[in-house]
Amino acid sequence: MNMLIKNICCIGAGYVGGPTMAVLADKCPNLQINVVDLNENRINLWNSDDLSKLPVYEPGLSEIIARCRNINLFFSSDLQQNISKADMVFISVNTPTKTKGVGAGKASDLKWIDACARQISKFSRGKTIVVEKSTLPVKTAQTIKKILDEEVNKSSENYKEFFVLSNPEFLSEGTAINDLLEPDRVLIGGDDNDAIKSLESIYLNWIEKEKIIKTNLWSSELSKLVANAFLAQRISSINSISSLCEVTGADINDISLAVGTDRRIGEYFLNAGPGFGGSCFKKDILNLTYICEYYGLKEVASYWQKVIDINNWQNKRISELIVEKLFGTITGKKITILGFAFKANTNDIRESPAINICKELMLEGCHIYIYDPQVSPNQIESVLGKISKSTDDNNFDPDEGSWHFEESIYKAANSSDAIVITTEWNEFSNIDWSNLSKSMRRPAWVFDTRSIVDVSYLQSLGLNVWRVGLG
Ligand code: NAD
Ligand code: UGA
Repeated sequence: MNMLIKNICCIGAGYVGGPTMAVLADKCPNLQINVVDLNENRINLWNSDDLSKLPVYEPGLSEIIARCRNINLFFSSDLQQNISKADMVFISVNTPTKTKGVGAGKASDLKWIDACARQISKFSRGKTIVVEKSTLPVKTAQTIKKILDEEVNKSSENYKEFFVLSNPEFLSEGTAINDLLEPDRVLIGGDDNDAIKSLESIYLNWIEKEKIIKTNLWSSELSKLVANAFLAQRISSINSISSLCEVTGADINDISLAVGTDRRIGEYFLNAGPGFGGSCFKKDILNLTYICEYYGLKEVASYWQKVIDINNWQNKRISELIVEKLFGTITGKKITILGFAFKANTNDIRESPAINICKELMLEGCHIYIYDPQVSPNQIESVLGKISKSTDDNNFDPDEGSWHFEESIYKAANSSDAIVITTEWNEFSNIDWSNLSKSMRRPAWVFDTRSIVDVSYLQSLGLNVWRVGLG
């Protein structure tokens, strides 16, 4: 076939589509790249002159957008035109857990994938390589191909032929640009060598050939789920041990170091925390367990389910211990939450551990004051409900749980009974604790779920400190 790719369309301008295509455009000036999305508001934000308004916050992203946008990188809501021009179409749409129907709560909801396949099938012309960038259950390529082929040979004037490849994305939010520039590997699964070569030749613009792994479609699709499951498993493993450290006098950071320096284990993904968040780990493991159950592999499914169970438990035990340490009642007390993003260097709050911690604390009737450098009050409202009345308002009920948003750490912490560090933003490592501690109501507590504070220093300022995994 030997197709020379000149025009790419990426369906889905989200956390993967946006940064991935930005790096592709930057590294391949000869390619014309159109990123399309049904969500016009998102497209408008990608096109906004003010780069601080881009819908995705990622270090290094705005600089690339400034270089490439409207040169060889375009954001548009015109799917039809951009699909019809493309030699290669990336599917980069969301694949969340199904909320109803067969497989609800476990299986991936493939309705957006189905819709994409139909759009590509209808609008594309000539030979088109369709690339699965989204994370998908193993065997999805078969379904996509079936839908695509519905339009093949339908009209003699409009010749169509499709080749489906799997090319899962391994970037992490917060380090996405670096991960895309220097990935550990690029995985391409397919059954047509020429189509594989066409995609490979794009990556070869900046990635060494040795880093490109080629497999069949099913290995590629499944590898992505397994990679996320393994990463999440390490976090649940270390989090489970953090609780054992807390009751035995061991320190989880020492354990991570001692265990992680064994090269067979490795140092990464051994930071104890409030439980993993983000849009993918939970949904991908749930999907893996669903697939295992579908194939009758009950033991395998329950093995991976435990990774999620420990994660939920870790999250819940943190909110419970906050209540317990604050004398068993937090009704009417003020608690400061530092960080609402699911990890540092992103504005993404999907499945953020802070969400459940805040919900649990509010249920107990406390007043939450949230500070996050990149998350907006609107985003928080979407998960915690309407922002609460001001405490000065006559209708404010001091015994009802409430949440508020603050623009500064110091305002958020003023007169609070406790500070909970939920995200490891760099600025939380540089807090002026000497000043801040004076403005808190005593006895005051700091709950560090990310292991970033100097415990003895804070104690010397008269603060009570709980740090994850510290006995
Ligand atoms: P996202 O929700 O941020 O973006 C998906 C976008 O697709 C949305 O803007 C949505 O409007 C758009 N969309 C959905 N259906 C469409 C259609 N038919 N036509 C046009 N646009 C459509 O999701 P994301 O975080 O970018 O994740 C996308 C996929 O990549 C998922 O499968 C995810 O598992 C996978 N993934 C995500 C990450 C990550 O860090 N977020 C990393 C690797 C892989
Ligand atoms: C993760 C994977 O790391 C990516 O390889 C994958 O592409 C992506 O999921 C995906 O498929 O969406 P991401 O969720 O963006 O990336 O971020 P991670 O760095 O993996 O962090 C996930 C969660 O685990 C965060 O809440 C983070 O704080 C937590 N974490 C991470 C820990 O608690 N401890 C650690 O040691 C590492």
